[in-house]
Amino acid sequence: MDMTQKAEIGLIGLGVMGSNLALNIAEKGHRIAVFNRTTARLGPFMREAGALADRIVPCETIEALAEAIRPPRPIIVMVQAGAAVDEQIRHLKPVLSRNDIIIDAGNANFHDTRRRFAELEGSGLTFIGMGVSGGEEGARHGPSIMVGGTSESYDRIEPTLTAISAKYEGEACSAWLGPDGAGHFVKTIHNGIEYADMQMIAEIYGMLRDGLGMQAKEIGAVFARWNEGRLNSFLIEITAKVLAADDPQTGRPVVDVILDRAGQKGTGKWSAIEAQTLGVPATAIEAAVAARVISSMKTERLAAEAAYGPATAGRVSKDIVDDLELALFAGKIAAYAQGFAVMAAASKEFGWNLPMPTIAKIWRAGCIIRSQFLGRIAEAFDRDSGVANLLMAPDFVAMMKEASPALRRVVAVSAEAGLPAPALSSALAYFDGYRQGRGTSNLIQAQRDFFGAHGFERIDADGAHHGPWSG
Ligand code: 6PG
Repeated sequence: MDMTQKAEIGLIGLGVMGSNLALNIAEKGHRIAVFNRTTARLGPFMREAGALADRIVPCETIEALAEAIRPPRPIIVMVQAGAAVDEQIRHLKPVLSRNDIIIDAGNANFHDTRRRFAELEGSGLTFIGMGVSGGEEGARHGPSIMVGGTSESYDRIEPTLTAISAKYEGEACSAWLGPDGAGHFVKTIHNGIEYADMQMIAEIYGMLRDGLGMQAKEIGAVFARWNEGRLNSFLIEITAKVLAADDPQTGRPVVDVILDRAGQKGTGKWSAIEAQTLGVPATAIEAAVAARVISSMKTERLAAEAAYGPATAGRVSKDIVDDLELALFAGKIAAYAQGFAVMAAASKEFGWNLPMPTIAKIWRAGCIIRSQFLGRIAEAFDRDSGVANLLMAPDFVAMMKEASPALRRVVAVSAEAGLPAPALSSALAYFDGYRQGRGTSNLIQAQRDFFGAHGFERIDADGAHHGPWSG
């Protein structure tokens, strides 16, 4: 093969995300070489590529892949997160040469990404940990791309990433966010926020379905209406569409025939774990992860419902509908404030210097949590990128003042009716705790001192003190 005919970039892993990303890259005019461990996938993939097949070089072996790409080679690895990534790196190392870049585009745990950076150090190869969001559609037509690695390595692949990424009013939703695990960390928190967003939407759906007895299509219409307003977002849009869809087999609304047991692949849980490790409250995200776990305990839940009787639904008044939109918005503000606070803490801990306004900007299009709301967050961070918490950005203070009373009423009604709203109520509790100037931890301190002589600070004197308990 003539050097000019060589591919500019390679990709390993022709699963759904990898295939779509490869087609996206080819469509933007780049010649790409592809490899899949199960080589039988190559034929069908080339047929799916249609006219784009001209720009795609299918490779039967990893050696052929390396041979097909012009050095220094950028190679995207899009395989299942975990051991499969290490396996691909192991296979790639002997066939690559100095300055080649291995780009892990899966949903890696950022600790693994940091380890892989360390392991490749001194090998002459460069590593990039790249978060890609937007599901199948995004990968094919424009995802949001979160890059971690050296800025030099990013510069080398930037034109391709800019070309394939989503655009928000012409701005590419792709950016270099910091060294080593920064990109995968940000993607993990993106997913944690995604979990919270989805859970809060599901809780509101529960109020409409079980509290008000509404049918799927009616509920879908409510979400469709909300999508025209402040909640305008991809997740609200698809919620409306999902609720409107019928099951071809039974003719019933498809949501009504889906088992209420949610899957999860780990990124939500990682967000909660990292938040805990960093000492940042991310209660809405934690609640969303826990809710998925409870959802998976279907048999136990059925037994518990039989033991306790069903919740006393039906008590909810129709007036609540007006509050639900604002309640969801308030919950969303708290969840995003938590997610950004976790990223701020990680940025400090790992010395990443994460660019908060950029993160909000590259989430405005392409990714699963894309929304109008992220534009407001970007504006807030543009004004003051060091704001202690999104809840303290002036625009957000105003929004939260308007929306939090509705959240309070909705949480109260859900508690009264026995309808679970774990993410919304955690969001409210977080907000109430955060804004309470004098809390109740004085009592915790007294208890700690009583049983363990841990000492406490006084409001009227410096230093450590003990209470009069011993006598
Ligand atoms: C995205 C999604 C994507 C994937 C989630 C689903 O940003 O495109 O977040 O990464 O759909 O990982 O995660 P669960 O299977 O854990 O819900």
